[in-house]
Amino acid sequence: MIPTLTLEIASPGAIPVALRALNLAGMKPNLVEVFWDGFCHLEPIEVMGHLEEFDAAISLHISNSRFLETPEDELSGYLSRLRKSISVLAPTAVSDHVYRFTVGQLRPCFPLECDYRAVERSAVDRIIRYQDTIGQTLLLENYASTSAIGGAQPEFFEEIMSKTGCRLLWDVTNALVAHFNGWCEIDRWTHLLEKSRSLHVHVGTLGVDKYEGDYRVTQGDGPDSASMELLKDTVRLFPVSHIVYEGSAGASAEDLAQSLLAIESAALRSPFGSAGSNPYSGGGPRNRGRSGDEPQDDSRQIERALRDLYLTSTIPNDLPEGHSLWQAPLYGTPADASTAEIESRMMRAGELWLENHDLSHGRLLVLSRSDAELSFGFERAASPSESAKARGPIRRRLLSPLRSHGVGGYLFAETDHRL
Ligand SMILES: [Fe+2]
Repeated sequence: MIPTLTLEIASPGAIPVALRALNLAGMKPNLVEVFWDGFCHLEPIEVMGHLEEFDAAISLHISNSRFLETPEDELSGYLSRLRKSISVLAPTAVSDHVYRFTVGQLRPCFPLECDYRAVERSAVDRIIRYQDTIGQTLLLENYASTSAIGGAQPEFFEEIMSKTGCRLLWDVTNALVAHFNGWCEIDRWTHLLEKSRSLHVHVGTLGVDKYEGDYRVTQGDGPDSASMELLKDTVRLFPVSHIVYEGSAGASAEDLAQSLLAIESAALRSPFGSAGSNPYSGGGPRNRGRSGDEPQDDSRQIERALRDLYLTSTIPNDLPEGHSLWQAPLYGTPADASTAEIESRMMRAGELWLENHDLSHGRLLVLSRSDAELSFGFERAASPSESAKARGPIRRRLLSPLRSHGVGGYLFAETDHRL
C-alpha cells in the first residue's frame, strides 16, 4: 500500500494556500482532511462548494465536539447535525479526540488529557452512540501526553477499540511527545498498530515548550526529524493509507510545499527510488517472504526484534548478539528458503546498511550468497543531491570466502570504492 500524502484544511480561508502548496509540490492527493471545527458553521452544501477545487475525497477531523463531557441533550444535537453534514459530504473517515475540556467548573483554554481509567466506561457508551448516529466507524487520535495519566493511553485505546470497533488515528508527533516526556513509550503502541488494517496517520512538528520545558506539538518550521523517522518506520511496518501533514497555522504555501516534499522524500521513497520500485514496497520485514511462505520461528524472532528496533531506536534484548544491525535479516534464513526470499533478505539487509544505524564508514557494501551465484551491491550517496544505489540480483558470486567476512550463509565486504 502506497499511502496518500495530504494536507489538513483548517478553514475556508486556508484553501487558497493549501491549493497553491499542493500545486508547488506537484501533488494532487485523492483526499484532503477537513478540520471540521473551522467549517461546521457552514451548511454542508457551502462546504462542498469551498472544497470542490481539490477534486478529492474528504475526511473530517473534529477537535471541539466535547463528546465525552457534553450533556446528553447537547450530544444528541451535535450528533444529529453532524449526521446531516455527513450525509451530504460523504467523508471517507471521521475522526475525533479523547479530550477533557473541563476542570470542575472551569473551562481551560485548551483541551486536556483524560483520566482514562475514570472515563473508560462512559467513553465506550458514547463512542458506540457516536458511531451508531453517524453510521460509520470513528477514528480517535492518540494524545500528546505531558503528564503521568498518559501512561494509561494504550490500554485505554485497546479497550475502546475492542468494545466499540473504533480505530486509532495514529499521530506520530503526539506519540513522540508522550514518549520523550517519559509517559508512554512508543513500542507500547505496537500491538495496536499491528491490529490496524489501514492506518490514518498525522504528522506535525515536535518541539520543547520554552516555559514548561517539556515536549509539545509546536507551530514549527515543518516536520521535525524525530517525527519523520517514526513516520518512516510506521509506513515501513504498518499498512498506512493516508498521511496528513498538520502544517503550522499561517505557514506559507512555499513552506507547506517544502514540508510535503520533505515528508514524501523521507517516508515514501525508499533509498532506491520510489516506493513502488522497492521489492519491499509491500511492507517491511513482516512481508519479507515474497514467496508467500510463512516465516520460520527464528525468522519471526528477528522480525520482532527489527520491529522493536525501528520503533524504539534502541537495540532490543532479543536481537541475536555479535553482528551489526544491518545483518539481522540475514540471520535465521531457513535452509529451504526460496531464491525470492533470499534475495529479499539481501535487499533488506542492504537497505538497513544504507540507513546506517551501525554508523559504519564504508561507502560500498558487496553481499554475496556463499553457496550460490548471487550477489548485491549497495552504495551510499556521496552528497545530499545524490541517491543511494542498489545493484542486484547479480548472478555471480562476487566475493571469495577467503577475502570476505561471513554471516549465516552470506559473505560481505565493505569498501570505500564506488560501484
Ligand atoms: Fe493530529
